[in-house]
Amino acid sequence: ARPMRVERLANGQTLELEAGFVRRSVAGRELVMLAFNGQHPGPLLDVDRGAEIVVRFRNGIDQPTTIHWHGIRIENRFDGAPGVTQAPIAPGDSFTYRIRFPDAGLYWYHPHVREDVQQDMGLYGNMFVRGHEADLGPVDREEFLILDDLLLDESGAIQFGRESATHALMGRFGNVLLVNGEPGYSLDVGAGEVVRFLITNVSNTRTWNLSMPGARTKVVGSDMGPLEHEEWVESVVIAPAERYLVHVRFDSAGAVPLLNRVQSIDHLNGAFLPREDTLGVVTVGDDSRPAGPDGDAADPPPDQSAGAAFDELREHPATIVEIDRYRAFFDRPIDRRLILGIRTGEMPPIVRTMMRIDSVFFPAVEWDGTMPMMNWAATAGQVEWILRDPDTGLENMDIDWRFSVGEVVKIRVQNDRNVVHGMQHPIHIHGQRFLVLSRNGVPEENLGWKDTFLLPAGQTADILLEITNPGRWMLHCHIAEHIEAGMHAVFEVEE
Ligand code: C2O
Ligand code: CU
Repeated sequence: ARPMRVERLANGQTLELEAGFVRRSVAGRELVMLAFNGQHPGPLLDVDRGAEIVVRFRNGIDQPTTIHWHGIRIENRFDGAPGVTQAPIAPGDSFTYRIRFPDAGLYWYHPHVREDVQQDMGLYGNMFVRGHEADLGPVDREEFLILDDLLLDESGAIQFGRESATHALMGRFGNVLLVNGEPGYSLDVGAGEVVRFLITNVSNTRTWNLSMPGARTKVVGSDMGPLEHEEWVESVVIAPAERYLVHVRFDSAGAVPLLNRVQSIDHLNGAFLPREDTLGVVTVGDDSRPAGPDGDAADPPPDQSAGAAFDELREHPATIVEIDRYRAFFDRPIDRRLILGIRTGEMPPIVRTMMRIDSVFFPAVEWDGTMPMMNWAATAGQVEWILRDPDTGLENMDIDWRFSVGEVVKIRVQNDRNVVHGMQHPIHIHGQRFLVLSRNGVPEENLGWKDTFLLPAGQTADILLEITNPGRWMLHCHIAEHIEAGMHAVFEVEE
C-alpha cells in the first residue's frame, strides 16, 4: 500500500476510485489487505462547500460492495445503501456516484457491504468539505487522524466469518491500534504552534478516549461543523464513525504523547483496570517551525495570530444562528421512540456460560475487547441486535417510519440495560442531520449538527432530526458487526 494522497477536487471534477488488494506489513506481519487506489488511508477528498463531483468507482475486490459517503446529505440514489438505494456492485463492475457537498465539515467514505471485513481490512478515507475555517479561528496547520484497530495473531488477521460476521456481541476489537493506517504516529511541530486535528474513528467497534497530556486542548467542532462554542477538554471520546475537530497548542519544546486512556473491565472479577495505549508522539522543537522532512508544502503558512487567538474560547455564531431556527422545537412532544436491545438464538456453550457471568456486571461503555473467546464465537447467525419501535412493536427492517421534507422530528432513543449483553451503540442516520438535545433528561449545553452519536448502556437520549432530504434512508448502529447482526432500519422521506 502507498500512503494517502490528497485529491483536491474542484466543482465538476471526476475522481477515478478503485477498491483493490494491497500488500502491507503491519506490526511485523505480512498481510493482504484492501485499499482505495492502493492507499492507506484512502485518498483524502478535499472540496469546497457547494461543489459537486463525480466518482467513477470500480470494484476490484472479490466481494460485492457499495460506497457510502458518510454524513453527506447526498442525493438518495448515490447513498450507497445496498438493497435500499442500489444493488451491490459485483466484483469487476463499476458504478458512478455524483456527490454534492451541501455542508462544510469532516466526513468519510466506506463500503456498506460486510463492513466487518471490507472496512476493517482497509477500505476507508476522509472527505473534508471546506467552508467554516474562518469561524474556527486561525491555526498553523491541519492534521487528519484516522483511528482504527486490527485484530492480528502471529500469522496475520484473525479469521473473518464467511457467511456472517464473527464477534457479533461486542464487535471485533483489534489488538493493534492504528493512526492513519500505521501503528506509530509521529508529528513534528515548532513550539507555540496551534494544530487543528481532524479526527475520524473508522474502527469496527472501538470507542476511543484521546488525550495529549501537557498540551492544552479545546474541542471546536464535530461531525457536520463547528459546535456552538469551544470548550477546554482533558480528552475527547469518539465513537465509531464520529468525527471531532480539536485545536491543540504545543507550548514548549519536548515530546507530547498521543494517548488512548480507557477503563477496561475484568468481567469475571467485576473489576475495572485502567488501560493506556500510546498511539504516537508529537515532537515539539524550539520556537521556530521545523523545516519538516515531509516537506509540509501543503500546510498553511505559519500564522503568528494562531497562538494568541488560541487562548480565547470562541463562540461560533453561524452555528448558533442556524440552531436558533430549531429552539422552538426543543420542547415538543416525542414523535417517535426507539429501544435498543438484543435477541440470542442457539449459542455455543462457551458463549452461554460467559454471557451469564458477563450480564452480572457491565460498564456503560465497553472500551476494550475483554472477553475475546466468547465474543469471537458468537456470529451474526446467532445474535440479533434490535432497534424496536415500542409504539408499533415493529423491529429493524419492519419499522415503517415516514416523514415529509420540512418536518422536524423528536426521537427518543433508549438503550435498554436489562438485556443479556447491554453495551453502547453509536447510532447513525443517513442523509439528514440532527441535534442531540438531552441525555437522561439533562439538556446538552453545547450543540452541533451530528450524523452519528454514542448512546451508552442504560442511557436515553432525545434527538431532533431535521428532515430535508427525500428518499429511503438507513438508520443503524455503526458497530460493523451489529449492522451485520440486523441492527438497521429504513425510513422514507417524501418530497
Ligand atoms: Cu458510515 Cu450506514 O454508515
Ligand atoms: Cu450496536
